[in-house]
Amino acid sequence: MAKRDIVKDGDPLLRKTSREVTAFDARLGHILDDMVETMVAADGVGLAAPQIGLLRRFAVCQMTSGEIVELINPKLLEGDGRAILNEGCLSVPGKYMQVPRFAHIKLAYQDREGKLVEREFFDFDARVCQHEMDHLDGILFYDKAVKA
Ligand code: CO
Repeated sequence: MAKRDIVKDGDPLLRKTSREVTAFDARLGHILDDMVETMVAADGVGLAAPQIGLLRRFAVCQMTSGEIVELINPKLLEGDGRAILNEGCLSVPGKYMQVPRFAHIKLAYQDREGKLVEREFFDFDARVCQHEMDHLDGILFYDKAVKA
């Protein structure tokens, strides 16, 4: 495994729309492993592929339990409830803002083998997933921030 450089705000890559993952091969697994290593080393709880310069629809998320969830081609099936919490981003160092998010979501996504998964996420875990999914559409957390 190897750490990757994290793309910082101001780089146009972070504003682009990522494309679907179609190849569930060893390379994808290596990149996911690198992303987890990079996220943990940077003391983050989520990292999306565009943040390491790849415009592909996948991200890694660390749950509050410590579990790592790999979201590949994630789609929001349901979202409800609203919570506002301080949020930051590894691509936007030093900036924290209040961001409203669904408190509960249901996602469909694929795992690294390409198997389709449906799963619900709550509270902080749901927030991390929504933040990372926004990266796949070129959206940064402060775009959605509200005044505290
Ligand atoms: Co981010």
